[in-house]
Amino acid sequence: MRFLFVMDSLDRVNPEKDTTFAFIEAAQARGHESLHCLVSELGVRGGRTFARVRNVSIIEAEPRIRLEADAREVSLDDVDVVFIRKDPPFDRAYSYATLLLEHARGGPLIVNDPRGLRDANEKLYAMNFSEWMPKTMVSSDRDAIFRFVDEVGGSAVIKPLDGAGGVGVLKLVRSDKNARAIADVVTYEGKRLAMVQAFLPSVTEGDKRILLLEGEPLGAILRVPRADDIRSNIHVGGNVVPCELTPRERDLVRAIGPRLVADGLYFVGLDVIGEHLTEVNVTSPTGIQELGKFTGTKPADRVMAWAEQKRKATAS
Ligand SMILES: Nc1ncnc2c1ncn2[C@@H]1O[C@H](COP(=O)(O)OP(=O)(O)O)[C@@H](O)[C@H]1O
Ligand SMILES: [Mg+2]
Repeated sequence: MRFLFVMDSLDRVNPEKDTTFAFIEAAQARGHESLHCLVSELGVRGGRTFARVRNVSIIEAEPRIRLEADAREVSLDDVDVVFIRKDPPFDRAYSYATLLLEHARGGPLIVNDPRGLRDANEKLYAMNFSEWMPKTMVSSDRDAIFRFVDEVGGSAVIKPLDGAGGVGVLKLVRSDKNARAIADVVTYEGKRLAMVQAFLPSVTEGDKRILLLEGEPLGAILRVPRADDIRSNIHVGGNVVPCELTPRERDLVRAIGPRLVADGLYFVGLDVIGEHLTEVNVTSPTGIQELGKFTGTKPADRVMAWAEQKRKATAS
């Protein structure tokens, strides 16, 4: 089969940690052709989506991943599976890419579905499952935010709606003389929405990343924050350790899996702190290499095998 990875430039790829690297490697081992393009290399002509692509392969020598020099144009009708793997933020360029990919509908399998990606802001989408979340509100109004923080006992977390990798996530404690300033910084003095969430003290034990494939758990890893931070993200120094899913987390997955599948969100990373859902990562979830190392399994290979089956089922 022919797979297209719509992603960032390869200098951002860490062969030891990158989930897309593991996907390309697994696709190659299964005999597929992999193509690379940037979101800016997609286009539409005559009502069909095309892309300016280069073959991408995994090699023994550093830097382990190689892009062929020659670019060519392919119609997405001639591609079997498209993996949208651009890193967040979900900015205007990302949004346009999902709109261009609408014109490929009915052609390749697209993971994740472009409409699902547009609908699912990673922070706000979780609020569809609010019974599984900590107490959460979204507002740009400082007074409303402070009333909420009081309601949840005086300490909360405030986060920008378009953040990722822990950037901009701050603890908001009502008694802190910086609290007003923090609310002002994150809301741009009342002009931008922020998510405010009850502070979960169990974050010191870690933030579990549960990877899902078509609504079913592929496995999970636990990211433990540094002692001097609340943020567990690998990007800001979180330490990754093995873990299992608890019975309640399995219930959580069973409860929200069907909605994810209905929205075409096939490869998803849930963030779960103290058995509470805090975020539904859909743009370019990561963690598959750590999961593979801890479990001695090949989760990326499972994803590729699934993609083959799904493509065959939808193409016929
Ligand atoms: N409600 C919370 N209570 C305690 N810590 C939190 C809470 N929400 C987030 N965090 C910490 O902040 C980190 C980043 O938050 P998250 O909502 O996952 O945003 P991001 O998109 O930046 O990953 C989490 O990994 C966790 O360590
Ligand atoms: Mg997160």
